[in-house]
Amino acid sequence: GLAILLTAAVAYLLGSLNFAFIIVRLKTGKDIRTMGSGNAGTTNVLRNAGKIPALLTLIGDAGKAVLAVFAGRWIFMSLGSASASDVSLIVFGGYIAGVFCLFGHLFPLYFGFKGGKGVATTAGMLLVIDWRVMVFGVSIFIIVVLITRIVSLSSIIAGCSFPVASFVFSYFFDYQAGIYPLDTVIVSTVMSVLIAAIMVYMHKENMKRLRNHTEKRISFGGRKEN
Ligand code: G3P
Repeated sequence: GLAILLTAAVAYLLGSLNFAFIIVRLKTGKDIRTMGSGNAGTTNVLRNAGKIPALLTLIGDAGKAVLAVFAGRWIFMSLGSASASDVSLIVFGGYIAGVFCLFGHLFPLYFGFKGGKGVATTAGMLLVIDWRVMVFGVSIFIIVVLITRIVSLSSIIAGCSFPVASFVFSYFFDYQAGIYPLDTVIVSTVMSVLIAAIMVYMHKENMKRLRNHTEKRISFGGRKEN
């Protein structure tokens, strides 16, 4: 009880540090949410403020989720009944931290509850919770972005695929090897589906633009943006 509450509060406050907003405000004095797609995230910072601010946004937003998951695990281990061997509770604590960090990022307390779409934040939490799932999701993201140059589409496809990876790794690898009890498989699968559903839902405006063929592509190298 107390462990969940404390983890949720710490993670929400950390998640509310929206680095797209902070970095663009510091660099230009403007509100990123009035620019480009209006999204307070890495892609829109790249469009409107350049590569270095975008990289810093990505590191900040992924990094806060890394911190939140470590904090959540630590709180669950110190307050809860969990010991280091209590793998289900540790995984659960990590996911609780991840979900509330995600809420903070999407609905930031400090910036009028209007934030980003949670792609970098999700990648950051998965890095700590299960790095194999993160590598799988990021690989899919990179492949789709290289082929289509549409970041939102890449986020949506990677988002839909990662719960499958969560299930496959936790069941066919860790459960079969006796590292995870069945509880842990259920926790990581259910939490992944929840997180992916939230992240994909946040792309609803992008999905409209994708259907109308009006979604913007990003440019890398010398290629022209259209
Ligand atoms: O960074 C989130 C990405 O998936 C979409 O961002 O600005 O194109 O709506 P944006």
